[in-house]
This record gives sequence, C-alpha cells and structure tokens, in this order.
Amino acid sequence: MIGRLNHVAIAVRDLAKASASYRDMLGAEVTAAVDQPDHGVRVVFVNLPNTKIEFLEPLGENSPVAKFLEKNPDGGMHHVCYEVDDIIAARDQLKAAGARIIGSGEPKIGAHGKPVLFLHPKDFQGTLVELEQI
Ligand code: CO
Repeated sequence: MIGRLNHVAIAVRDLAKASASYRDMLGAEVTAAVDQPDHGVRVVFVNLPNTKIEFLEPLGENSPVAKFLEKNPDGGMHHVCYEVDDIIAARDQLKAAGARIIGSGEPKIGAHGKPVLFLHPKDFQGTLVELEQI
C-alpha cells in the first residue's frame, strides 16, 4: 500500500535556527516558512536528493507540536510520511485491519496541498505515521 518516503518531520522550538543549521552547516536547500493553521504548525522543508525533512514549529494555541516539545524539549522526530495512491482506500483498508486514524478520520489538506491522514503511533511502533496521497 505505502510507496515512497515523502518526508521525515522534526519538531523544533526555533524554525529559523533549525533552518540555519541545515542550510549553513549541512549545506541543504531550505524553503521559506509557511503557516499551516489547520494543523497548528509553521513549516519549513529541507529538500534532499531522495526525500525531504519537514521542520515543525508550534503555531497558535493547542498546537499538537507544543505538547510534543513539552515532552521533548530539544525537539525530535515527530512523524514519518509515506505516499499512497488513494488515501480513502488506504484509510478504509487500515481501519478494517484495526489501525486507529487520528482525528475525524477525514483527510485534511497537508503542507503540499494534497490530502493527508495521521495514524496512531501506538499501532505503528511508537511512531506517528502520516499518509499523503500523491
Ligand atoms: Co508531515
């Protein structure tokens, strides 16, 4: 069902500092910050030859990333994102297999303007999984 690794997301306290470290120390191409109010995050992407890194900074109150940073004060890996061809078919197949979908169960539009869903970390080795329809 899943295809390519689309990105690995890292929660950060300071998006500018994270961007600078990847741009200036690691020599990576880093995009401008974009607000994603629906997801409670401000996002920067690092474009690598074979995948992307997504930096997430909390945006607004009740940001899920703010809670994550309380538990991980230095930041850390927040989720992995896999590509799927049909997100509704993937969701229905996962639900039938007993996996929990986070939130309403309906896809939201993600950082690339494509539909995304999140799967509960307890069902996937303690790691939050994002599915993105490509
Ligand atoms: Co993501």
